[in-house]
Amino acid sequence: MSKASFRIWRGDAGEGRLVDYTVEVNEGEVVLDVLHRLQATQAPDLAVRWNCKAGKCGSCSVEINGRPRLACMTRMNLFGPDDVITVTPIRTFPVIRDLVTDVSYNYTKARQIPSFTPDPRVKPGEMRMRQVDVERSQEFRKCIECFLCNTVCHVIRDHEENTEHFSGPRYLMRVAELEMHPEDTADRRMIAQDDFGLGYCNITKCCTEVCPEHIKITDNALIPLKERVASRRYDPVVWLGSKIGRR
Ligand code: SF4
Ligand code: F3S
Ligand code: FES
Repeated sequence: MSKASFRIWRGDAGEGRLVDYTVEVNEGEVVLDVLHRLQATQAPDLAVRWNCKAGKCGSCSVEINGRPRLACMTRMNLFGPDDVITVTPIRTFPVIRDLVTDVSYNYTKARQIPSFTPDPRVKPGEMRMRQVDVERSQEFRKCIECFLCNTVCHVIRDHEENTEHFSGPRYLMRVAELEMHPEDTADRRMIAQDDFGLGYCNITKCCTEVCPEHIKITDNALIPLKERVASRRYDPVVWLGSKIGRR
């Protein structure tokens, strides 16, 4: 057993401040364990969102020493004995209380994506996909909706005014998944560019760096989507060819 120094943001939508705590830590623990001990011993009103404690529900997203992370997957042995561990709410979304933020922006963006649109002439059981297409979708489907990628992306992190126009990497990835799906008939390129703000992404790759599922968001979703948008914008024949080739 040892002690760790924590500095935790406490407050609500109105105002807040960093509060210092010294908390017991046991071998093998993660930051979420220590936050729970803090609730149990010193700060029973500390608000922290969590659910699975296994890196699978995406609820416990916070910023730890400035880096967006899952509290349940951040081991305490990452830090030295003299480190002060600062835990703050994810910065891009409005605070509800303490470490809990309102991420409903993401669900609003999710609802704006036109759903999977298969060819109505293809009957149930007739749909065929190549393994490479299955694997692409499977990678994107690993997403646990922690929104660490959206939190870290400077387009909305540093520019609140862009939130109206930019869906963030998580839902651009969903648009990319559908756009590259061989059985989806909708053309999503203009939607990606005009409604979801693909052009705002300047490929900084910060989203990919923080993704706890190690999804290659930038390389496998955003860049291919940008290439498709460019081929449609500048070469309609290429676009038509790619459409025909996909059927
Ligand atoms: Fe989280 Fe990765 Fe999904 Fe973004 S893509 S919401 S970082 S799991
Ligand atoms: Fe943002 Fe990721 Fe693009 S961090 S700028 S969405 S590569
Ligand atoms: Fe579920 Fe951390 S508690 S991902």
